[in-house]
Amino acid sequence: MDLKAYLEERRALVEAGLKRFIPGEGTMPPELHQAVHYSLFAGGKRLRPTLTIAAAEAVGARAEAVLPVACAFECIHTYSLVHDDLPAMDDDDLRRGRPTCHKVFGPAMAILAGDALLTEAFALLTNPAHVGHLDPRLLRTVIHEIALAAGSQGMVGGQAVDILSEGKAIELSLLQYIHTHKTGALILCALRAGAHLGGATAAQLDAITRYGKAVGLAFQIADDILDIEGEEAMRGKKIGGDASRGKATYPALVGLDAAKREAQRLLAEALDALTSLDHQADPLRTIARFIVSRKA
Ligand code: IPE
Ligand code: IPE
Ligand code: MG
Ligand code: MG
Ligand code: MG
Repeated sequence: MDLKAYLEERRALVEAGLKRFIPGEGTMPPELHQAVHYSLFAGGKRLRPTLTIAAAEAVGARAEAVLPVACAFECIHTYSLVHDDLPAMDDDDLRRGRPTCHKVFGPAMAILAGDALLTEAFALLTNPAHVGHLDPRLLRTVIHEIALAAGSQGMVGGQAVDILSEGKAIELSLLQYIHTHKTGALILCALRAGAHLGGATAAQLDAITRYGKAVGLAFQIADDILDIEGEEAMRGKKIGGDASRGKATYPALVGLDAAKREAQRLLAEALDALTSLDHQADPLRTIARFIVSRKA
């Protein structure tokens, strides 16, 4: 399949959805909404919303049906990036090919832009005008899962342990905790939300869950590898920051070659999880390959 065309089409859909669902740049207070728009519309692969859509399509649903939920994932993800880059966290100056939010708008406005994006995601997820067509019970289950995936037992928990582990020698099991939480949780949840709302059977949901666990971890291992071997121009963010901050990463703990082997093993695991799904799951298969072979 033509992954480029598939991703391009889904990305356009997500872009249009975000423009439609998120308060305009001129909304009061404009300084805050400008910071939100600056970070949200700065490019980005739109991987999480694409996964929500691809999971829904894999079980026979239409992209449009899950678009608001897909866009909510991008809001939460973008908030996590804005906060991740703050001086008190990774202290990065470059994101999505431009100066980070706090560099342009100051740390206070960047914190608030992140807060706004997180909260706006849940406003979107509960807005009858946008999600009124979805089964309310399924939606409630999905919203609860999103809150858990984003919170202290999910992404924020992973970010906390990431920060607490800087400069320390940690066990592989704790590194796995960091990666499956700071990054894996939201990716897995994006997939499960699409499958759930797309009407997946229990077996399909289980397959997509196993796929999601594997690609979620593989995604962060690939990110760690690209922080060493990638190019700043391609990635739109600084290279080498992990080593200079003493971050707990796969290459730091097991070495670059073993990290690459682990990413490949997880790719095989992800593909294996999908064997019971038909050709409608091909985009998920292709995205898994992209996750471990990408340059950006
Ligand atoms: C970066 O995520 C943060 C990690 C979880 C590693 P992405 O690589 O998906 O960033 P964008 O959305 O494309 O900018
Ligand atoms: C961040 O991991 C994961 C998030 C929840 C944002 P990283 O700190 O490695 O992400 P990058 O490399 O800055 O994008
Ligand atoms: Mg970080
Ligand atoms: Mg970072
Ligand atoms: Mg990184």
